[in-house]
Amino acid sequence: MFPAQTYVERRQRLQTKVRSGLLLFLGNAESPMNYPDNTFHFRQDSSFLYFLGVDQPGYAGVMDLDAGTTTLFADDLTLDAIVWTGPQPTVAEWAAQAGIQNTAPADQLGEVLQRARVQGRAIHFLPPYRPENRLRLLDLLGIPPAEQGAKASLEFIQAVVSLRIHKDAEELVEIEKAVTTTVAMHLAGIRMARPGLKESDLAARVAEIALAAGGQLSFPIIATVHGETLHNHFHGNALESGQLFLLDAGAESALHYAGDLTSTFPVDPTFTPRQREVYEIVLAAHMAAVAALKPGIRFREVHLLACRQLAEGLKGLGLMQGDLDEAVALGAHAMFFQCGLGHMMGLDVHDMEDLGEVWVGHEGQPKSTQFGLKSLRLARGLEPGFVFTVEPGLYFIPELMDRWRAERKFTAFINYEKLEDYRGFGGIRIEEDFVMTEQGARMLGPRKPRTAAEVEALRAEP
Ligand code: GLY
Repeated sequence: MFPAQTYVERRQRLQTKVRSGLLLFLGNAESPMNYPDNTFHFRQDSSFLYFLGVDQPGYAGVMDLDAGTTTLFADDLTLDAIVWTGPQPTVAEWAAQAGIQNTAPADQLGEVLQRARVQGRAIHFLPPYRPENRLRLLDLLGIPPAEQGAKASLEFIQAVVSLRIHKDAEELVEIEKAVTTTVAMHLAGIRMARPGLKESDLAARVAEIALAAGGQLSFPIIATVHGETLHNHFHGNALESGQLFLLDAGAESALHYAGDLTSTFPVDPTFTPRQREVYEIVLAAHMAAVAALKPGIRFREVHLLACRQLAEGLKGLGLMQGDLDEAVALGAHAMFFQCGLGHMMGLDVHDMEDLGEVWVGHEGQPKSTQFGLKSLRLARGLEPGFVFTVEPGLYFIPELMDRWRAERKFTAFINYEKLEDYRGFGGIRIEEDFVMTEQGARMLGPRKPRTAAEVEALRAEP
């Protein structure tokens, strides 16, 4: 944990941002995988970690804004439980470590909330995303799960976003640790690829590095020879000569801050000329985007600039044609780049996505509905303290090629004849993590191979 004072100050700042009532924090509980005692790896809710620090299942917290108190609700483990889990910090010990004054048994939470309801006080809660907490909210407040998203407190959401969105020095140290481990995962993955291995061999190696560093993975590993599938979690393919391998993997630090990087490299020691050509286009878009980063610039603008750069490269290959400004404005480039250029990163790999992308990445403005642009998670102006990814890519998706060609979509901008040559090419993504500072953007962690020559040089190392 951070020092208790960090949590005290975070709660003091939160206190000033919501007018009155109770702030209800529901920590995560153990969640069964296939029977009650066989649970998923426990991951605490990130806002709970941020404000209350407790990294143990089954806790709840209430900040009474009018009384100026914080109470942690949980029960100490019974001896029967300790037999299985080993000793854990007591509720009072967790509270002390987070500078929280009051503790109460878990079953008093319902009474406290009931009293507040009878008194007509506001009970603010964040949108729940776990079934366990949806049921808990139903029990506690009588709000059916289907209505909980709409009834979550916008004031509370906006207050949390406004605090968590700027990473302070303590947090940046943690994120640097996570990204440094993540770079080590990528170096190992790039080094080991060769024909005959399976995707799962690389996935296992990169997971080993994350765990050995004392944390967990920050999201399920993408380790695939089918990089054209943006979030491909299948690891059963054998690596074959002539293929590209896409590795999108990240570690969490011990305090649960995320790293998130993507590398694309050949299964063979070197890129084929065609792979290199496409790689260079993605790299040029990446470099153009990175060069454009500065305080205040809207990330949507950086995204569109990267799209324009990709389109230019694709025109050079004969895959796109016509007026590229018009093509990008209409979304024709989304045949090749179907997602956004990046996202916020912090305690969550997509930071605070549970609170709503519109509040985190779009300042409350509605998102575009255009294919491609609608997947842009971050559009707002970049402020010092923001941590985010930059991850342009080119993806040749057979199903999309067939659908758009059959629909004669964007025929003025896409050369479908030529595109057939790229069926089976796969996908390329290059991803790095950045923090915005007053002086400009700084890349987080050590630099992993970025250019094709750097990738090949790493492959050539004994
Ligand atoms: N790197 C995985 C993701 O952004 O979802």
